[in-house]
Amino acid sequence: MCGIVGYTGVQNGAPILLEGLKKLEYRGYDSAGIAVIQDRTIHIQKVTGRIANLCEKTQDGLLTPGCTGIGHTRWATHGAPTDTNAHPHASNDGRFAVVHNGIIENYVELRRELTEKGYHFESETDTEVIVHLVEHYYHGDFQKAVMKTANRLQGSYALGIICADEPGRVFVVREASPLILGVGIGENFFASDVTAMVAYTRNVIYLEDGEFAELTANAIRVFDCAGREIPKQINRITWDIQAAEKGGYDHFMLKEIMEQPRAAKATITPRIQSGQIQLDDLDLDFGNVRRILITACGSAYYAGCAGKYTIEKLCRIPVQMELASELRYADPLVDEHTLLIVLSQSGETADTIAAMKECRRRGAKVLAIVNVVGSTIAKLADYVLYTWAGPEIAVATTKGYTTQLLVLYLFALYTAKKLNTIEETEYCRLVSCLKALPKQMQQVLDMNPAIPRLAKKYHQAYSMFFIGRNTDYAVALEGALKMKEISYIHAESYAAGELKHGTIALIHEMQPVIALCCNESVTEKTMSNIIEVKTRGAEVLAVAHRENQKIVSLADDMIYVPKVDPLLCACVEIIPLQMLAYHVAKENGCDIDKPMNLAKSVTVE
Ligand code: G6P
Repeated sequence: MCGIVGYTGVQNGAPILLEGLKKLEYRGYDSAGIAVIQDRTIHIQKVTGRIANLCEKTQDGLLTPGCTGIGHTRWATHGAPTDTNAHPHASNDGRFAVVHNGIIENYVELRRELTEKGYHFESETDTEVIVHLVEHYYHGDFQKAVMKTANRLQGSYALGIICADEPGRVFVVREASPLILGVGIGENFFASDVTAMVAYTRNVIYLEDGEFAELTANAIRVFDCAGREIPKQINRITWDIQAAEKGGYDHFMLKEIMEQPRAAKATITPRIQSGQIQLDDLDLDFGNVRRILITACGSAYYAGCAGKYTIEKLCRIPVQMELASELRYADPLVDEHTLLIVLSQSGETADTIAAMKECRRRGAKVLAIVNVVGSTIAKLADYVLYTWAGPEIAVATTKGYTTQLLVLYLFALYTAKKLNTIEETEYCRLVSCLKALPKQMQQVLDMNPAIPRLAKKYHQAYSMFFIGRNTDYAVALEGALKMKEISYIHAESYAAGELKHGTIALIHEMQPVIALCCNESVTEKTMSNIIEVKTRGAEVLAVAHRENQKIVSLADDMIYVPKVDPLLCACVEIIPLQMLAYHVAKENGCDIDKPMNLAKSVTVE
């Protein structure tokens, strides 16, 4: 939930750290800091708020010269977002500084122990115990002190540690938090995410849990937890650096919404050859699968909710949805006949990882659908299907969600064919519908110039209802989440047929209803729900295709989408809702890419 970065080389480190932190700001942005070694002294600068404040305070790093340093952008867990609680934290003797992403679960005991030994604590953070432990275990051997410290820590941590006595040396440690090393020429890097280093190097090393590494300007050495040096493979990042920049758009979110047709093509096209879906990485014994369990958090969970309908309909296998944060403690009924599908954009979500480990322990095979190559979830899974959406920076996911859906569609069709639950003609028809989706996603972006105007009409709403049935309901869940996340307007997603069982009492003139009517198998039914809410005075904004004249005449406002098969329509239907949330948030002056209190990658429980 925080971002860390580090540099050692021959250049001035602080500007590189600050640039890296800007790329990591999506991971947390309530305070930030850097520590740089100059003349065998560690200089620390910290601020409350955004990286921009830190740039201002340090004059873009010019005030803190030095060729070795570490940086941090924080999403507070232990202790309020203040200057004092911001990282890096320093040891009492000023010899060490540390940045940390994760949570130290045994910090209360360690803090007590260190206090008894005479160490003084400045902050309320769990992190500060780390730097005092390093000082405590240091008797001239930096590496040994780091190892001994890591052995005392319980929880999740990616650490960067510097020592004033050894200006060109940085130690990093990884346990259940993302950490990647960047291999340069005469300089080396580390960061929570490659986006922070890709401007300098495309050669990276992925650390595994329990490993630690020493970085100097000319070498990187990786060790296992017992201190034995281990060989590591250098991987090449192939995506374009511009993919992680705003590219002329006002916000990353808008850019990422617009990128969806291209991302969809990258996800689908290589996997359809001569009309057949090829999922080479999925060498699964389908005959052994009696049920599918899908788990994830946030939008990824809602992608699963929509995909469930398609899988069940085509494969005739029961699919159960469970939120990862619930599943991990649910004593789940999972065995070797269960296929667990894990959805995650980042591949680092702590609850999802824990749920996955628990189900694996009970015998389930795990298929991960993830975006970030080399992420923890990708590494832990039995099978991986990447979503190929490219880097996603805005906290509210858009292309991450739609590409997850597309992979679920591919999976559903592929599995149905393997299990013989689909007729050949239907298979061919749906494969060509699938191939048409990127174009239809583009059409939906092109055919709705009215969305900014609709946002002006609805942006003052205190609350909104999103209603639909079947896949339309699944899209309502994600549409409402998008609205809440970035505009802070309360939004309730409801299965349209459930309204009359209670919450219809909340419908009135001031309560706009967004009615999702793209799944033709149920639109007639949803229309009667539209009439119910209109009778109670609500204004209705409907999402449907143009030919559906009945809805056009019923609704107060329309958003149009192309006509898509009900089994595949969710990934097109969500796009105007992303746009609506975006423009409503813009009208309300919200910080769209970095919404309040959220973080993109939730690597703590
Ligand atoms: C956070 C983000 C959400 C995201 C969820 C799951 O809560 O703010 O946008 O859907 O994590 O993230 P994942 O990376 O596992 O898809």
